This record gives sequence, C-alpha cells and structure tokens, in this order.
Amino acid sequence: MTYTLTTPLYYVNDRAHLGSAYTTLACDAIARYHRLMGDAVVFITGCDEHGQKIQRTAEAAGLSPQAHCDLVSASYQELWQNWQISNDRFIRTTDPRHRRIVEQFFARVEANGDIREGRQQGWYCVACEEFKDDPAEAQEPSCAIHHKPLEWRDEVNLFFRLSNYQEQIEQLIRRPGFIAPESRRREVENFVAQGLRDFSISRVNLPWGIPVPGHGGHTFYVWFDALLGYLTALLNNDDHVDLDAVSERGWPAQLHVIGKDILRFHAVYWPAMLLSAGLPLPERVFGHGFLTREGQKMGKSLGNVLDPQLLLERCGSDAVRWYLLRDIPFGDDGDFQQQRFVDLVNSDLANTIGNLLNRTIAMARRWFDGAVPDPGEAAGPSHPLAVAAGDACSTYHVAWQRLDFRAAAEAALGLAVAANGYLNEQAPWSRMKQEGQREQVSSDLYAVLEAARLVAQLLAPLVPLMSDRMLAQLPAAPAPWPDQLRWGALTVGAPLPEPTPVMARLELEGQL
Ligand code: MSP
Repeated sequence: MTYTLTTPLYYVNDRAHLGSAYTTLACDAIARYHRLMGDAVVFITGCDEHGQKIQRTAEAAGLSPQAHCDLVSASYQELWQNWQISNDRFIRTTDPRHRRIVEQFFARVEANGDIREGRQQGWYCVACEEFKDDPAEAQEPSCAIHHKPLEWRDEVNLFFRLSNYQEQIEQLIRRPGFIAPESRRREVENFVAQGLRDFSISRVNLPWGIPVPGHGGHTFYVWFDALLGYLTALLNNDDHVDLDAVSERGWPAQLHVIGKDILRFHAVYWPAMLLSAGLPLPERVFGHGFLTREGQKMGKSLGNVLDPQLLLERCGSDAVRWYLLRDIPFGDDGDFQQQRFVDLVNSDLANTIGNLLNRTIAMARRWFDGAVPDPGEAAGPSHPLAVAAGDACSTYHVAWQRLDFRAAAEAALGLAVAANGYLNEQAPWSRMKQEGQREQVSSDLYAVLEAARLVAQLLAPLVPLMSDRMLAQLPAAPAPWPDQLRWGALTVGAPLPEPTPVMARLELEGQL
C-alpha cells in the first residue's frame, strides 16, 4: 500500500527550531515504521516561501525574497540531512511547477462556482498570516500567539465559498479517526458548529505571491498556495505538470502531521478546497501539541530557543528522538527539561538496553567460543522471553496505529527490562560455575540475545542509528520485517563481534 505523509511546509522567515524538528522527527519515525511494514512510503516535507511575512523578513535582511528563500530553505534541507531525516520529497512553494499546479487547482475551483469577490475587513496577524476573528483579539488588537500588534486590513479580495461546504465538512469531522487526537476533533467541531464563513484567498498589493490568473493585481493568499504544495510535492521531476497526475503518485495522503495552531487550515479549509476541485481527501490530520522549554515558551526575546543543529551536535539524533518520542505523549503539549532528557537517555538507552547487549555478548563470547550459543529449550515459542517478545510486538503495532510513540517505545523498553530481569534471575555467571549447567546457560544467553535483537528491531523507527549499531552485533539473516520480528531469527553458531557500546552516556555541562 502507498502511505503518503506530510510535515507542515515550514515558513522560511526563520531557521528551524525545536518545534519544527519535533514534527519532522515524529514524521520520520512514522515513515520508517511504514517502510519496515512494507508500505510504499512517500514522506513529504518542505518550505512555504510566499506571503507578506517572508517578503518583510527578506526586506529587513536586505535580500530579494527569492535570495532569502534560497538561503533559508537550503538551511532546512541541510538540517534534515544532518538529522538523517528520511523524507522522499522536499517541496519549495517557489518551485515553478508549483505555480502551475496552483493555477490548475484554482481554475477547477473557479469553474465549480466557488470563487467570488468580496470585501475583507479585519485584523490581520502577519506572523500567523491569518485574519483574527476571535472577538477578544479584535478588541485588543494583538495576536494571542505572537503577542504582536494586529494590522487593520480593508481590501477587495477573492473569496472561497467555504459556506457551500458546511454539511460535507460536518460529516467529515464526524468520521472516526479523521482528526486526532479526540480533543482536537472537538475543537474543530465547535468551530464548524458556529457556521463556516467564506475566506479570502487572494491579496492585493502583495507582490511576493503567485499571481491569480484572470484577476490582475491579486496574488494568492499564502495558505491557499501552501496547502497545494502537498500535491506538487508528489510529482516526479519528469512528470507532465498535471493535477490529475497526483493520484497516481500517492494522493490522497494517509496523514498530515501538524501543530495544533494550524489545525483549522488542515481539517476544514483544505478538505473543502479539495472537495471543490474534485480531489480525494486525506485520511487523517493529527494535531500535536506545543513544546516549551523548562516550563517557558521558547522565543527569541526570552533567549531560550533551542537550536536543533546544536542539539544534534552535542547530543546526537537518537538521544533527542528517544526523549521527545518516548516522553511526550504525542498530541499533548510537552516541556523540554534538560535533566530529565539526560536521565532518560542514560537510564533507558545506555543502561537498560545498552548494558544488556554488552554484558550478554561478552558472556556468550567468553563461554561459547565467541559465537551465538545453542538455544536448546529457548528455541520454542513458550520460552518466557519468547512470550514477552510476542506481547511486546502486539502492543507495539497497536501503538503505531494510534501514533502513540510513547507506548511503542515502552513496548521495546519493556522487553529489554524483561530480558534484564530474566538474566538476573538465571544468573548465568553463577550457573557456569556449577557442574552440568552449561546447556542451561547456553539456552539462557541465546534467549537474552534474541530478546535484545527484537528490542533493536522495535527501536528501528524510533532510534535508527542505535538500532543499526545493535543489529550489527547480533547476526541474523537479512529478511523483511515480519520475518525479523519472529522469535528465533538469530543465527546459531554465527560469530559474535566484540561488543561495542551502542549509546554513549550523555554528560552535559551547563544549559544547552
Ligand atoms: N507555513 C505554515 C504551514 C503550512 S502547511 C501547508 C506554518 N509554518 S511554521 O513554520 O510557522 O510552523 C510549522 C509547524 O511548527 C506548525 O505545525 C507549528 O504548529 C509548529 N510549531 C511552532 N512552534 C512550535 C512549538 N513550540 N512546539 C511544537 N510545534 C511548534 O505554520
């Protein structure tokens, strides 16, 4: 099956921050899981490069908007490469092919009678690129998210007749699983229940945007153009630029992962636009929470922004991935706490998992000629660790269906805890000193090594580099995932390499 998933297309007004890294890491984990499950994954990320915010940022930097976009989007691409993000596509909305997709899409929507002219009056937040119609915000013209003054706008724009889609959108958001988690679905439900109002899709006097065909002086509102980036991203380089081609390339998406602040655009405006253009709808929109740092909102003025590149250089990608995915329930707000980060990485990855592998390989090498020992009774499915592994795998797959990374990580960790417990109970170091116990020790060590191999497999989407380092020390024949997840794939008699640590302990001095 084709599994298309997207991160938001990040604005290039600034470089990536921990929030953008969080979404991208989460999507990367999902993409890896589905690839391992045998799906044909199309993982899309990219940059959103038009609009007033970008135009102003470029002006302030003394650059042309295009030169500014080239610089910042290159920094995003480099960052994701450094993080080893496995995206299949990187779309920039200044790609000339994108302009043609937007024009074709608009032509369909206009032909469907969903475009009208109208007067747009209201308070606008340039940082959000959004009109604020919340009465509290309109009375106090400052953005609740950015704490910046709103700007009064009064202009003739083109509007999309969102009001035509009230019933269809109501139906859609009742569809189980379309919006997750449930709390976000209720939020959208309340918004839709107030009655959908047409929204403006063009701007006048904004040169940094795609011109609206047939409506001189108008450029597309940045959100109208940006959402369509998900479609353009699917085209192959040599494809004829044609909206119809996207269906063969992986549309509809299975999943849009976004932050909670841009839920309405994805769960209401976007589906209505797609309905109007006669295109199928995405399967699921997941709105995750916001990250704070040591209890405070991150921002330049507070000087507490956590630079993803620095985090990577000082801590490595797996440590950060583990902490963010294992500790923060996906969907809820989360707080980045340095001490907790260090403690969790050291206790889960370096101690529980890393030491388990290290000491078991060392014992097996010492007592069984440097090779994977014979399983004996551990070959069977009723061995306690085989049962624990089977249970861990079932819990794990259910967790991924719900995008519950925490439960998936806990399933892998739980198996390592069980293996450690088993090793301590069986105490092969004592048995080896007793007569006639060699077979039992062989079987016990095989079982623990096999459990460690399965832990490594389950860790693959979450902490891929650490998983690779573990698997490199645990010989098994190459095979696709369903076979690799079966108990007993470890190759008996194969040489075990000298154990090397799979995760260095984190020792951080001072605040990151
Ligand atoms: N360009 C739009 C998206 C267009 S999608 C067709 C945009 N870009 S953004 O760069 O401002 O935001 C990108 C994502 O970062 C959003 O999902 C937003 O929720 C997320 N985050 C911004 N700050 C965040 C945190 N502090 N924590 C977690 N995510 C955060 O919106």
